[in-house]
This record gives sequence, C-alpha cells and structure tokens, in this order.
Amino acid sequence: MMDIKEIYNLIADDMDAVNNCITERLSSDVVLINQIGHHIVNSGGKRLRPVLHLLAARALGYTGKHHIELAALIEFIHTATLLHDDVVDASELRRGQDTANSLWGNEASVLVGDFLYSRAFQMMVKVNNMRVMEILADATNTIAEGEVQQLLNVHDPDTTEERYYQVIHNKTAKLFESATQLAAVICGQSDTLESAMAAYGIHLGTAFQLVDDCLDYNSSADEIGKNIGDDLAEGKPTLPLIYGMRVGTPEQTAAIRKAIESGGLESIDEVLATIKATSAIEYTAAAARAEADKAIACLACIPDSPYREAMHELAEFAINRKY
Ligand code: IPE
Ligand code: IPE
Ligand code: MG
Ligand code: MG
Ligand code: MG
Repeated sequence: MMDIKEIYNLIADDMDAVNNCITERLSSDVVLINQIGHHIVNSGGKRLRPVLHLLAARALGYTGKHHIELAALIEFIHTATLLHDDVVDASELRRGQDTANSLWGNEASVLVGDFLYSRAFQMMVKVNNMRVMEILADATNTIAEGEVQQLLNVHDPDTTEERYYQVIHNKTAKLFESATQLAAVICGQSDTLESAMAAYGIHLGTAFQLVDDCLDYNSSADEIGKNIGDDLAEGKPTLPLIYGMRVGTPEQTAAIRKAIESGGLESIDEVLATIKATSAIEYTAAAARAEADKAIACLACIPDSPYREAMHELAEFAINRKY
C-alpha cells in the first residue's frame, strides 16, 4: 500500500517541473490575470490530473519532455473549469479559501477562466502533435457540453440516472480520460493500450465525481475546503437525491422533489434525513467503488512498476478521499 505522499514522491522531479511550467505560463502583462491566476493556482489543489498524466507516462516508459507541458496545460484546463464552475454554482469557498468570484466578482472569474483555457491551447500548439490537439479539443468541448447538460437538469427532479451519468462523464471524467490517454499517445503506444489508458481515466473520473457528489452531503467545509450543500442549494439532481427519490417513501420522495424544484437550503435537514434513511450515500459510494474497480482492471495490460502501483492506489484514493 502506498499513501498519497509516496505517490507524489515518486514523480517529485516531474511535478517540480510541472509547477515551474505552470508559474511560467501563467504570466501576463495584465495584473488582474496574474492576481487571480496565482490565487487559484497556488491555493493547494490536489493536482490529480497532472499526477495521473505523469504516472501514466512513466508507467509506459516515456523518456521525452512533452509530459511536463501537457500536465501543466491539463491543470490549466481544470483550473479554468473551476473558475467558471464556481460562478455557475455561486460557490464562495474552494480549497479552504474565498473563491475568485467572491473576491473579484463573476466577470473577472469568467474572463480569467477564458484566459486559462486559451493559454492551454497555446501550450498545446507548442507540443505540435495533431492527435494530442484532437484529444484535448474534443475534451474541452465535451466538458462544456457536460456543464450545459447539467444546467438543463437543474431544478428537474425527473432527471434520470442515465442523464446524471452523462453529465459526470462529460464534465469531469473526460479530462481524467485525456490525462491518461495522452500519456499513451506521446509514448506512441498501440491503439489497444491507448484505449485501456483512456478507459482507466474515464472510470476513475466517474468514481471521483460520484464521491464528490457524496461529499457535498456528507462532509464539512473544514474537511473538503468547499461549502457543503452547494448542490442542493442550486437544485442539482445528483445521484444521492435521484436514488433517495427512487426508494424513499412517498413523503420522502415528495420532500426531495420539492427541494430540487425550489433550490435553497430550507429543507436540508429533511433531505439529509431521507438520504440517511434510504442509504443513498452508500448506494452512490458503491457505484464509485464499481467504477474504481473497472479503472483498476484496465491497469492489467501495462507492465508492473511502482508507477502502475501508484495508479492503482489513486483509484482507491478517489473513492476513499475525504478532500
Ligand atoms: C474539483 O476537482 C472538481 C471536480 C471535478 C469535483 P478536484 O477535487 O480535483 O479539485 P482540486 O484541484 O483538488 O481543488
Ligand atoms: C465539477 O462539479 C465540475 C467541473 C468539472 C468543474 P462540481 O460543481 O461538483 O465541483 P465542485 O464540487 O464545485 O468542486
Ligand atoms: Mg461546483
Ligand atoms: Mg458545478
Ligand atoms: Mg461538487
């Protein structure tokens, strides 16, 4: 068993290079971009997507230099989605700090998010590989689709489990997929191996968001550095609620329906009681476990190494995490 610290240690040199790259590429002559950029980039994110890219590249024996730039730009895309996400979700806390939108306003957050997105594309061009460009262009487009699909589900208690899975596949799992798939691409691996690395990323990313949606009901701001209850406040039909409505009593189902339709936190206690009574968190966590197991199974086709071991452990981390 490796703990998360050992995983970071395994790729410490690569990660230092990625962090230097991030700092270098963040710079702009526009002061506000530097301010907001540094605020979000240096606020202690887990850097999971770059870590996965680096581990996968090392596990496949990569000896070039493109993994650093790719890991950095993947984190930029992630960071851009967070800036936009906190505006859309009206969130005030991230990584234990005030969000950029609460410090500088929605306009600045959206625009600096755009800066980071487009900077990521400038970096991508430097890698000069059409297949890399294709994968990342498709991923960013899919992420945007996922956020819009989610917007259409907001305040809709009839959102199905299938529609929910489409949203998390697109908004979250897709970028995890790119991170690991791109490692196979820059290593010039076979289509079979590329697909296996992509599948690992998709399943891990799905597990990761399932757990995130549990933590929104099941954690505390101190632990996850985000305010809990944000999903309910915005009327988001996530899996714990969808399941609670399916198996709850008619009264419990009606209470959740109403909470999704109206949003806000007035009925949070009732919703939490129903989630508990229906074991909706356990149900969602079991779905995450199943996704993590699928991710782990994909690792069978790459050679055994400490990097592969770390990828296995990260799948466990995705479902056992508290932050
Ligand atoms: C947050 O991602 C957004 C989701 C997909 C749930 P992370 O939990 O990876 O965010 P940071 O970068 O570590 O803060
Ligand atoms: C993640 O969903 C969305 C992104 C892919 C940016 P959430 O809205 O649940 O993420 P958090 O909980 O705010 O980090
Ligand atoms: Mg959010
Ligand atoms: Mg969101
Ligand atoms: Mg969340």
